[in-house]
Amino acid sequence: MAQLPAPVAWLDDRVGIAKLGRKNLRKVFPDHWSFMLGEIALYSFVILLLTGVFLTLWFKPSMAEVEYQGSYSLLKGLRMSEAYESALTISFDIRGGLLMRQIHHWAAVLFVAAMSVHLLRIFFTGAFRKPRELNWLIGIAMLFLGVVEGFIGYGLPDDLLSGTGLRITEGLVLASPVIGTWLSFFIFGGEFPGDDFVSRFFTVHVLLIPGLLLGLITVHLMLVVYHKHTQFPGPGRTEKNVVGFPLLPVYAAKAGGFFFVVFGITALMGALLQINPVWLYGPYNPAEVTAGSQPDWYMGWLDGAVRLMPGFETHVWGVTLSWNILLPALIVPPLFIVLVALYPFIEQWITGDKREHHLLDRPRNNPTRTGIGAAMITFYGVLWLNSGNDLIATHFHSSINTITWVCRVLVVLGPVMAFWITRRIAYSLQRADEERVLHGLETGVVVRDPDGGYSEKHAPISRSEAYVLTTAAKPRAIEAGSDADSNGVPAPGRRRRRLRSALSRFYAD
Ligand code: HEM
Repeated sequence: MAQLPAPVAWLDDRVGIAKLGRKNLRKVFPDHWSFMLGEIALYSFVILLLTGVFLTLWFKPSMAEVEYQGSYSLLKGLRMSEAYESALTISFDIRGGLLMRQIHHWAAVLFVAAMSVHLLRIFFTGAFRKPRELNWLIGIAMLFLGVVEGFIGYGLPDDLLSGTGLRITEGLVLASPVIGTWLSFFIFGGEFPGDDFVSRFFTVHVLLIPGLLLGLITVHLMLVVYHKHTQFPGPGRTEKNVVGFPLLPVYAAKAGGFFFVVFGITALMGALLQINPVWLYGPYNPAEVTAGSQPDWYMGWLDGAVRLMPGFETHVWGVTLSWNILLPALIVPPLFIVLVALYPFIEQWITGDKREHHLLDRPRNNPTRTGIGAAMITFYGVLWLNSGNDLIATHFHSSINTITWVCRVLVVLGPVMAFWITRRIAYSLQRADEERVLHGLETGVVVRDPDGGYSEKHAPISRSEAYVLTTAAKPRAIEAGSDADSNGVPAPGRRRRRLRSALSRFYAD
């Protein structure tokens, strides 16, 4: 073995680092631009930790009332919570404070966005299939925690916008049947907003959720290394190998450089684009609300769902059930999340495909999955759009009722249409691939033959492209099997098998 540098040899004697490093630093990773989406999530999380530590040095998680005497003259003399006052101090009186606040907020927005797009890449390419189902579930947990972390984070400055968001949350909590009131008192330490929530939210925001996320990210990445990364089909790539570059030096350099690109862009956004100007909103007062208040983008779909629902209530045994809140906030979104979380298992059951998959699907080669993804995006998108129904109405001079009704119809019809159209497009793209393999590339060169006829010249496609286009594994339907055994005795579980066969036929259709 080559002589190790002295510090590495010192460490190696104590923790066996050389063996670990030799095995892992030469690990091969495949290359594709979409694999950087997870990296963006990772780097924005690191940026959140770095800027968050800076903010904790000055932020005061206290609801004690103080009189503002800082340098923002418009609010001078106003009574406010210490939390809001410290957010103003960070913004106007701490050197670099506003920049750090803005980078922190932009990184939070980017973190959830990167996770979401990363999730879509995993979904549409089938990267969640065996053996990566567990990593999918960990991912969903991280996305959920990321959203809660962001929401709690922008509740901390105790400004009018964040207070409005918290007021909505209180409404959702109160709508939980039977335990609603108790739960609300438990969370806020008494009547809303109370004096406790900032200090409680602070602990959850800086300690509990970041700790959980850190642990989950570590397991997530260890699993990526353990399973090895998936790769797109191509010449020489099989289910049993990984074609790419080694971690050291290629990926270490690429990833290290990319971290600074992400940090640089986030810092530029923090410097140039205003975000959450709490001084313009004023301190929170439960009796006030600003028109046109909007949450951060990832809370939009929940807000939109609540705005979508007509006002239904039922009264049973002295208990009021507010369906207008229960259904859009406490039933449908959790169901949607559980459905997305369980999708790998549902697909596996329907297709009966229990094999390991290390080669990714091109989305067009699995039209039903791609259609389902489009349907889910549409459902989410319509709810999200509806969270801006008031602003759309004022900006486009239209009626808020019409917009809400259009969204009510679209939330049901849109996903069905999106599924159907996307599936058709995927089939058409498959046919276009077949054409390309059979007839080659259209060159645009039109020639005239001796008889006077015109035809276009086709050039053959490359062997590697032909390989990619002809190796797609298409989903296959499962037979239901016979309903009875050879003695005519009804076979057990035949209803389940029939259902599964029908679903798999629809899936593979
Ligand atoms: C804190 C948030 C997250 C971080 C930092 C993160 C990071 C990463 C990284 C760096 C990779 C390898 C590169 C890549 O394939 O993009 C990866 C792979 C993976 N991630 Fe995430 N991820 C996060 C959230 C999620 C979410 C929300 C999901 C889905 C629900 C998910 C599911 C997966 C799966 C299944 C893989 C393996 C993909 C493969 O081998 O092709 N991750 N993640």
